[in-house]
Amino acid sequence: MDVAAQIRPNPAEGPLPAYRARVKAGVLNADPAQQAAAETLQELWHRLRGYDPKPSEPEKPGGGLLGRLFRKRGAEDGVKEAPCGLYLVGQVGRGKSMLMDLFFDAADVPRKRRIHFHSFMQECHQRIHTWKKANPSGEDPIQPLADRILAEAALLCFDEFQVHDITDAMILGRLFEALFARGVVIVATSNTAPDDLFKGKPGRDAFLPFIAIIKKQVEVLALDSQRDYRRDRIRGLPTWHSPADGRAERALDAAYRELTGEAHGAPMVLEVLGRKVELPEAARGVARASFDDLCNKPLGPADFLAVATHFHTLVMDDIPRLNPDNFDRARRFITLIDAMYEHRCKLVASAAATPDQLYEHGQNAAMFERTASRLMEMQSQEYLKLPHLS
Ligand SMILES: Nc1ncnc2c1ncn2[C@@H]1O[C@H](COP(=O)(O)OP(=O)(O)OP(=O)(O)O)[C@@H](O)[C@H]1O
Ligand SMILES: [Mg+2]
Repeated sequence: MDVAAQIRPNPAEGPLPAYRARVKAGVLNADPAQQAAAETLQELWHRLRGYDPKPSEPEKPGGGLLGRLFRKRGAEDGVKEAPCGLYLVGQVGRGKSMLMDLFFDAADVPRKRRIHFHSFMQECHQRIHTWKKANPSGEDPIQPLADRILAEAALLCFDEFQVHDITDAMILGRLFEALFARGVVIVATSNTAPDDLFKGKPGRDAFLPFIAIIKKQVEVLALDSQRDYRRDRIRGLPTWHSPADGRAERALDAAYRELTGEAHGAPMVLEVLGRKVELPEAARGVARASFDDLCNKPLGPADFLAVATHFHTLVMDDIPRLNPDNFDRARRFITLIDAMYEHRCKLVASAAATPDQLYEHGQNAAMFERTASRLMEMQSQEYLKLPHLS
């Protein structure tokens, strides 16, 4: 039974009581940095209760809709103008997504949306493309795009805010200006401070106005927890399950959920040297795939290297017994494990047998010995403690 799922945030109380309840129930460790972030989220939750801006003429940021919502307080009471959102930044595994989810679930806002930032940007490009086709006269697509976004949600919660793509960088400034002008409130998690977004990339100058808008409109809060809770969690998990039966599958489901906070991730495709490596599910640096998905396909060392560096953990179903008759599969598995081992990528697996019994005797058995030994080491607490080399 998932105790955490039982303690749902109560929309009548907000994220801070939900956080405290989880700490009290022992689901979460008490953490002063998280507590402080939960307090800030609680303030935003209060201000947003019943927030329901109607799609209408945009007004100046901080003026119209937001001005009414956040009642601009003048110099006379010495209080800074309240921000229209929060940007939670910190290292991996500090609990940013967990806190944002508590806030999102509790938010008493009729139109709200939580989305991975990358998916949001893909959706924006798709919509711009469709709009341009329907309006070939060259009108600006950003304003109608912002109208449509507000019509769907006045509160947007973005997980894993990151800008790698020049096409994203080029539209973000104007898009966010249009969103803030309409009263859209943004909450985001990120591993990168606003000042460091898109750093060192060609075209960064054109991106600077976006950074300025974010810093002006949104409160930036560093979540400086001392612990990487995700790493702590995998250390407590059994990582090798054999035989690969229904019990093992459920254990892998639970491990995936524990590590990502979600029952299922979205499919992901890694592009490697023009080829595609397809992962059926991925979220928050964790991939889930079966042995056949990775080792029964014509994939090679570069593909496995991409998997081992891109994900800190691979949850792998159904590793079969291997033997000289199907050595191609075994060779790919050996290469995958080498890449993972070298990059300290963690493995949670279900398999037909324990590592030392996985390869049946015969040709190349000696070659598999090193893999078996690595697989044993990869289950050790010492290995699970090592930082991933991405
Ligand atoms: N105080 C805590 N006690 C126990 N577990 C925690 C605590 N905070 C977070 N966790 C758990 O640690 C894991 C990582 O947390 P989360 O995914 O929120 O981190 P994150 O900061 O978003 O990391 P990333 O930057 O990689 O996205 C999750 O399973 C989460 O439930
Ligand atoms: Mg996260």
